[in-house]
Formats: sequence, C-alpha cells, structure tokens
Amino acid sequence: MKVLVIGGGAREHALCHSLSLDPDVTALYCAPGNAGIAGVAELHPVDALDGAAVSALAGRLGADLVVVGPEAPLVAGVADAVRAAGVPVFGPSGEAALLEGSKAFAKDVMAAAGVPTARSYVCTTPEEAEAALAAFGAPYVVKDDGLAAGKGVVVTDDIEAAKAHAAACERVVVEEFLDGPEVSLFAVTDGRTVVPLQPAQDFKRALDGDEGPNTGGMGAYSPLPWADPKLVGEVLETVLQPTVDELRRRGTPFSGLLYAGLAITSRGVRVIEFNARFGDPETQVVLARLKSPLGGLLLAAAEGTLADLAPLRWSDDAAVTVVVASHNYPGTPRTGDPITGLDEVAAEDGPHAYVLHAGTRQDGDSVVSAGGRVLSVTAVGANLTQARERAYRAVARVRLDGSQHRTDIAAKAAADAAGA
Ligand code: AMP
Ligand code: GLY
Repeated sequence: MKVLVIGGGAREHALCHSLSLDPDVTALYCAPGNAGIAGVAELHPVDALDGAAVSALAGRLGADLVVVGPEAPLVAGVADAVRAAGVPVFGPSGEAALLEGSKAFAKDVMAAAGVPTARSYVCTTPEEAEAALAAFGAPYVVKDDGLAAGKGVVVTDDIEAAKAHAAACERVVVEEFLDGPEVSLFAVTDGRTVVPLQPAQDFKRALDGDEGPNTGGMGAYSPLPWADPKLVGEVLETVLQPTVDELRRRGTPFSGLLYAGLAITSRGVRVIEFNARFGDPETQVVLARLKSPLGGLLLAAAEGTLADLAPLRWSDDAAVTVVVASHNYPGTPRTGDPITGLDEVAAEDGPHAYVLHAGTRQDGDSVVSAGGRVLSVTAVGANLTQARERAYRAVARVRLDGSQHRTDIAAKAAADAAGA
C-alpha cells in the first residue's frame, strides 16, 4: 500500500516512523514534511490547506491511503476533497471536524449524546461573558470558540484577565473549572466502530512544575500507572461511542482519529475538549507502544472495516517524549538556529531513543529550527523511569542555541510507580 501523509510536524514524523515499520506499506510520501521526515518518507511540496492540490498529489503518486495529520486542513475540508476524488482518506470531513473547530458545536454534540463535560455558556458579548464568569466563580475558564493552536484557553483566578480574554475573542465558551488529573485518550473510528488506543498524559504548561503559559504540549508519557484499568472501557462507553453515534445520527459521520481530552474529577470523568486528529506530543508515546501495523489500522478506518480488524496489540514498555522548543516559545519563537547532536542520538541512543522533528528545515548541510516546538525526543523502556532516563540522555546530546525543555516530564508518575 502507498501512503501519503499530509502535514509536517512531530505528529506526522511519528506517523511516518510507524508507517515505515509496517511491512504492508510499500511506499511512503509526506507533504510538505520536514527535515526529519525526509529520512523515512519521500517529501513533496503542497499547500496542505488546498484540497484540490492534495487530491491531485494523491492521484499523481497513486496513493492507496491519504492520512491528514493537522486540524486546519481537516476543518478546511481537505479530507472531503480527497474522498470525493475516490482515494481512501484517514481523517474526518470538514463538518465532523467541527468537533474540534468549534467548542460550541462540541458542547452541543455532547449535550445531545449525554456525554459528561463541564457546564458551560456560549457568550458573544462582554455582558454575557461577565454573567457567565460570575455564575461559575474562580478559577475562571474562558475558551475561544474557534481553532487557536492550543492557545485559545485561559484558566485564571484573575477576573480582569478572564474578561479581557473574552473581550478579545468573537465568541467564547465560559465553563466551570474541572479539577483532577488530565488524560488524553485517542480512538480510531470509521464512523461506527470505535477502537480506543492506550491513554497518555501530556504536559501543557511551558515550565517545570506546571508553571508558565499554556503551550501545544511540552512532553508526554504512556501508559498511566496511576489510572484505573477500567478507564478506557468507561470512556469508550460514556464518551467515545455516544459521540460517534451522535455524529452519524446527524448525517455527518466522524471517521478518523477522535481525541478526548479528559479530566478525572472527584465526580467522575469529564470531557475537557475533543480534537479531530492525533495529538502532539501524545502520538509520539502512544505509537511507540503500538505493535499492530499502523497502515492496516488507518486503512480499515478509511474504508469502514474496523469491525473486522483483529484486536490491537500493545507493548508492555513505557514511553516518554520530551519536547525541545525554541527560544521564546510559546511567544514568537526565534528560528533559523542550527541543531547539532542528532547523529549522536542516532548512534548512541537508538533504537530505544530517537528524535522526531517538528519545526525543522534542511539548510544546506545543516538542520535548522523553523518553529516553536522544534523536535521531540521519544524513548521506550521497561518502565517510566528507564524511558525517562533514555529520553533525557538523548535530549542532553541535542544542541540548539537558546532552546528550552521541561525536566520533569513523567517524573511524578515514574516516582509513584517505582515507590508503589
Ligand atoms: P483545551 O484547549 O480545551 O484542551 O484547554 C487547554 C488546557 O486548559 C487543558 O488541557 C486544561 O489544562 C485547561 N482547561 C481547559 N478547560 C478546563 C476546565 N474546564 N477546567 C480546568 N482546566 C481546563
Ligand atoms: N497535546 C495537545 C494537542 O495535541 O492538542
């Protein structure tokens, strides 16, 4: 099978890495890709938001499957264009991707499907927002309705900051604060059958100890030794299947990757958000543990045959990923800095630890930074402690002027599991 992956971040590098290990994948293409993905896939330039251009490229390459990675092309309807051209595609239609593209739409679907989530108000004026903030009290949670690359949410005790964020957005969702640890659970679905993957936890704040601003994600780990073994089954039954059923009932079936961001509160599991695509950096650790061939799984979702697929097989290993970000991220990042030490990681730490590129670019003989999150180092080990050691040993070899990373990814979970 010939597979074309659309996108060019660490998620797409993780997808390409796993697809390159699938014996049924005979050719692997990525558009536009990045400097690291070039090592496992043939790169092609494309405007990922242009459905006609993506379909034409898929046709030219004779792709048997197109995998659309990021949310912006999905919301723009790129999967619809590819599907209309007769090529199987992994990724929801533009209408179904509104589950991520509009927080108000997601709330409406959850209410109709009886899915547990934070109580909320959709507000379009400062007066409405003020009333909603007063109704819930601190800590305040204010979410931009539309896509905001992980930066649209403000959680604060400061009423003025909450009001200011609401005023700066056209339409916001104001909701009750959810307490408790967060879990990311991905599921692959063909619109009817839902196959959950293994849960992961990501670290959204920029600095150690969950301090600093929200980011797209600074690291992740899987499995979650502290989580109830029944969690995945419960979320499948109360969240994932009802949501997929509701979207099918509305005539806009969701096929692709349904990502549930969950809070495990004292009153039970609540949905914080849905995404319509693999999450970054959780994908790096979830796919590192998946033993079943990825190409077959994604194709079955695209073709509507997930019910016939053998149960997924998982490694007992633990996986940890640590994001290396540019100077000033999540503000406007400095780019164009050379990255060295990548060969040393490959020589000294592989195959247990490896680098997945996010914002990188080939510049002559060197690889340079080209975005906020530059790369992530992923490692596997017999447990979280070993996976952490391997990940941080490799991170220490990567040199990028002014770069930053968190030093406490999976630290608490590893210590708790080791002490248990
Ligand atoms: P989201 O983009 O909706 O995932 O929100 C980003 C982050 O903001 C989440 O990962 C949470 O850490 C935090 N957050 C969002 N909604 C809530 C909520 N209702 N209560 C507490 N924290 C939240
Ligand atoms: N890890 C958070 C996200 O992908 O949105």
